[in-house]
Amino acid sequence: MNKSLFEFRLGKDQRTDKAYNQLRRALEGLVFKNVSMAKRLTFKTGGPASIYAIANSLTDLRSIISIAKEHELPHFVLGRGSNLLISDAGYKGIVIELGRDFKRLTVDGNYIQAGAANTLATIAQLAWKNSLSNFAFAVGIPGSLGGALVMNAGAHDGSMSDVVANATIYTPDCELKVMNGCDLGFSYRSSLLPKIGIVLEVLLKLESGDRGRIRLLMERYFKKRKETQPFEYPSAGSVFKNTSGVSAGRLIDEVGLKGTRIGDAAVSIKHANFIVNLGNAKASDVCALIDLIKSQVYREKGVLLETEIILLGDFENG
Ligand code: EPU
Repeated sequence: MNKSLFEFRLGKDQRTDKAYNQLRRALEGLVFKNVSMAKRLTFKTGGPASIYAIANSLTDLRSIISIAKEHELPHFVLGRGSNLLISDAGYKGIVIELGRDFKRLTVDGNYIQAGAANTLATIAQLAWKNSLSNFAFAVGIPGSLGGALVMNAGAHDGSMSDVVANATIYTPDCELKVMNGCDLGFSYRSSLLPKIGIVLEVLLKLESGDRGRIRLLMERYFKKRKETQPFEYPSAGSVFKNTSGVSAGRLIDEVGLKGTRIGDAAVSIKHANFIVNLGNAKASDVCALIDLIKSQVYREKGVLLETEIILLGDFENG
C-alpha cells in the first residue's frame, strides 16, 4: 500500500505516537509526550502539548518540521510563553522550544547578534553593560527575542521594529533567508512572522549612549510597570491591542469591567487590559472573559477590540 495513503488512514493519536518515536531517534535535543503547558505559560493555565521537542540545532529544527509534515501534525515555536493562551484540551501537535544553538549572543560595536531563544531582559542587560541605548524599553517585557519579533513587542514608545537590522528566518520551504528589518512587515504589535518563517537569529542595531543614563531609564521603566501593571498574579500582559491610538485598558476601565470575574480569571483592578489568574483559572474562563469584554466594549463604546495574545488549540470545545 502507498505509504502516504496508509498514513492518511491513521488517527491523530497514532500519528502522534509515530512522530514521537521518530523524533526520539532523530533529535540531539530532548522530546517529551503529553507535556503540561500551564507551567510554561505566564498565564499558568491551559492543557498539554501532545509532543514537546527541544531543537538544539538547525539540524534538529529541520528534523522536527519534516517529521511534523510527514505525520500531518501542526507545530508551534514557543518563546517564553508570555503572550499565549492554550486551550484546556491542549495543543494537538508539536510545541518546539529553541535550545542551545539559538541562545548565542555577541556584541560587535553598536550591533548585537542574538539567537531567538534569548530573553529580552538578558539582551537589555547586555546592551546596558556595553553602553548601548534604545533597547532599554524592552527591560520589563517578559518575552523571548523570537516571540518579540513576531509580535513587534514594545513599551515606553519603543518597539522591536526600531532596532532590528536583519533577521535570519527558516522559511516554510526549509530555506535560510536573511531578511532586512524593513521587509518583515512590522506594524503595531504585528509582523509578517511566523507566516514567512521561524526567526532563528536577529541582528540588532543600537545606538551608543551613556551607561548611567541607560540604567536610570531601565529603572524608571521597571518602576512604571510595577506601579501600573499587576505582577502579583499570573497573566499574559496586555490582552487587547490599543485601537487607533485609544487605550484598550482605558476603554475596559470606562465600561466598568475592572474586577469582573469568570471562574478564577479576572479583569485586573490595577490595569483593565490585563486578565489575571487568581489561582485556578481555566483557559475557557479566560476566553469567556475575553468575549465578555469584547461585547461590552463594542456595545458601549462602538470599538471592536482585537486580542494581542495568541490563542492556540480548540476554544470551541474547551
Ligand atoms: N488606563 C486606564 N485604566 C486602566 C489602564 C490604563 O484609564 O485600567 C489609562 C492610563 O491611565 C493611560 C492609558 O490608559 O492614560 C494608557 O495606559 P498605559 O500607559 O498603561 O499603556 P497601555 O497602552 O495600556 C501599553 C502596552 C504595554 C506597555 C505599556 C507601557 C499595549 C496593548 N500595551 O499599555 O505593553 O507595557 O504601554 O509602555 O500596547 C503588552 O503589550 O503586553 C504590554 C504590557
